[in-house]
Amino acid sequence: MIKVDYLTRGRVAVVAFQSPPVNSLGFTLRQGLLAALERAEQDTAIDSVVLMGSNTTFSAGADIREFGSAEMLRGPSLATLNTCLEGMSKPVVAAIEGMALGGGLELALSCHHRVALASAKIGLPEVKLGLLPGAGGTQRLPRLIGIEAAINVMLAGEPLAVGLFAKSSLFDQVVEADLLAAASSVAEASAAAVKSGKPLPQARDLKVREPDLQALCQFARNTAKTALKEYPAPLAIIDAVQFGVEKSFDAGLLEERRLFEQLMNSPVSKALRHVFFAERAASRIDGLPADTKPREIRQVAVIGAGTMGTGITINFLNAGISVRLLEVGKEVLDRGVARIREVYEGQLKKGKLDAAKLAARMDLLQPVLEYPAIADVDLVIEAVFEEMSVKEKVFRTLDATIKRGAILATNTSTLDVDQIAAFTARPQDVIGLHFFSPANVMRLLEVVRGAKTAPDVLATAMMLAKKIKKTAVVSGVCDGFIGNRMIHRYSAQAMQMVDEGASPEQVDRAVEKFGFAMGPFRMGDLAGNDIGWLIRKRKYAEGSLVERQVIADKICELGRFGQKTGAGWYDYKKGDRTAYPSPVVAGVIDEARKAAGRPLRKLDDREIVDRLVYALVNEGARILEEKIAQRTSDIDVVYLMGYGFPVWRGGPIHYAESQTLYEVARRMRAFAALPGADAEFWQPAALIDKLAAEVRSFNGGAA
Ligand code: 3HC
Ligand code: NAI
Repeated sequence: MIKVDYLTRGRVAVVAFQSPPVNSLGFTLRQGLLAALERAEQDTAIDSVVLMGSNTTFSAGADIREFGSAEMLRGPSLATLNTCLEGMSKPVVAAIEGMALGGGLELALSCHHRVALASAKIGLPEVKLGLLPGAGGTQRLPRLIGIEAAINVMLAGEPLAVGLFAKSSLFDQVVEADLLAAASSVAEASAAAVKSGKPLPQARDLKVREPDLQALCQFARNTAKTALKEYPAPLAIIDAVQFGVEKSFDAGLLEERRLFEQLMNSPVSKALRHVFFAERAASRIDGLPADTKPREIRQVAVIGAGTMGTGITINFLNAGISVRLLEVGKEVLDRGVARIREVYEGQLKKGKLDAAKLAARMDLLQPVLEYPAIADVDLVIEAVFEEMSVKEKVFRTLDATIKRGAILATNTSTLDVDQIAAFTARPQDVIGLHFFSPANVMRLLEVVRGAKTAPDVLATAMMLAKKIKKTAVVSGVCDGFIGNRMIHRYSAQAMQMVDEGASPEQVDRAVEKFGFAMGPFRMGDLAGNDIGWLIRKRKYAEGSLVERQVIADKICELGRFGQKTGAGWYDYKKGDRTAYPSPVVAGVIDEARKAAGRPLRKLDDREIVDRLVYALVNEGARILEEKIAQRTSDIDVVYLMGYGFPVWRGGPIHYAESQTLYEVARRMRAFAALPGADAEFWQPAALIDKLAAEVRSFNGGAA
């Protein structure tokens, strides 16, 4: 419930506000706060005010859900509220516990005094939403902590411990406990000072000294341009600070407002706000009974100490959960344990981990060779070879040995989770946990919901994901789940363009310029081209893949598996990850094109990018139609977290919507008409055509 309480403590008014869960400053709260301040101004029974959150936190800032809506424009705005606060004739003290972020911190900066609990954190994270602090933060913070420090706080956007600022003018006091008592004493002392004729301290009156403002700002700009070149907010932050210091506080406020509105309407901020909510929505599971309780997970077993098994194990060790790692033989088990130790030793060398933590984590690891040794665990994650017969043996053994009620998970990337579940007499306990490689680094986890997976198993998987710091997305069962099913279409399109006349380098360059971390061919070389080759060979044999990928197969037949073999789509030099164009690959491509006898054409970057991205979008739409994904934003999260899609473009579906679905469908039809095109591939999913015709977006809103 949103409310603002007005209590008194002697001659101090305590204005305690809440808007759960994070006290975001939406219209109703802003209105309540202004009313409380006006009341305090008139109240002859009080001389000062303490402003605090009533639910163990101050405020996480403006209500992001309001952005772009009429509510956001309804007065009082946060800026108006802050001006009123600053202009009060009675001192106002912000009492900060929990978090004071964004507009929440700006509210506190407008108070005459600030007292914080030592455990509290402050920050201006607007930059992460593609914005600048828009309620005076760019003007007040530099005056309170200095220009350079303020720019650093705003560009980092991270919550920071208040202790870092204990010596600046930001806080009157930082206390370990009794926040309200400390804030009330500061309020009383300030009221006494006012009575004796002292003016109220205001951040706007503080002088900022910077011998070479121009040089400092230019340096900050150059750094921001290199590190964050696609993001306009960092430069706007520096501009607003410089403007206010050179001109005046009030001129700075106006400039800040102008830049804030400009950024609010920018595609980058829209994308980043979409990502903020998308990441949070992903953890919600549709149709789960509200009283579903996750199962308790204290002991985990991982089967298979290969690439994935060791990476998965590290996640749990990092979270303080003990793992029994099971392998078929001692030698391969020892190798897996050594690999885990190596990862930790690497972190030790880089100073990311100390020796005590390394030892504690390794102590949580128990290598085992027999199933009885894992019989009592609460969760098993299987990461053995990607062959159904091997998985079958493992799951039948698990069913026979592991205690009832344990969750049996598979990390398969292509096999049917329902078929795997059917190897057991407890399919309700079976789930897919599809980690991405390297599993200890990649944040994405696809949680694969089998036809019979029990609700509490799903809820447990989502809870565990949070514990091991993964962003989990629920997927239904299909070939490749959400991510790999889509990437398959994307890779097929990349290959198709090479057949038509583009070079791997040109394809990679175009899509990297668009913002992908890595183009499809460089990505193949990094992940290992043999993985896809093995899958293709299986599918050729099954007959589920008829058309041969002649060039990709030939590259693998030549042993060019990628970086690990020193050659793939590109050539590599020892100890150097730079991808050098390969004359051998050029020869293979040339030969294949000649054999196919098709005319070659020049493809421009726009066509390359659109064909790759719209291949993803079309498959994404089909995935939605089939209800494999719960919501459109989940597809974006998969691509942002697992496949290097540029975050500032918001994910493939958000990007497609920003281009309008009509335009997307029109381009697809144009690609279908290209010589030699696969018309079925480019038939827009029925959902895209339907939404385009109704001028609607995937989420139901107007396009
Ligand atoms: N507005 C609206 N909702 C918010 C919010 C905000 N500022 N901050 C968090 N929420 C919501 C989340 O969407 C989530 O909702 P859900 O439960 O329905 O999914 C809920 O609060 C809890 O959030 P988290 O799951 O993120 O909880 P955590 O405890 O992990 O993190 C947090 C808490 C650190 C506060 C984190 O939510 C966060 O970083 N929030 C954003 C803070 C921010 O960016 N503030 C600046 C806003 S812009 C601004 O102030 C403009 C001003 O300068 C004019
Ligand atoms: P890997 O070949 O590196 O490791 C597999 C390990 O399983 C080997 O150490 C092997 O000795 C062990 N093993 C085989 N049969 C076993 C059995 N019956 N009992 C115990 N251990 C056994 O393979 P990788 O890459 O780790 O893949 C494992 C699984 O993870 C596969 O299902 C794969 O599809 C999936 N996966 C792989 C990804 C990748 O990028 N490598 C990404 C996501 C999922």
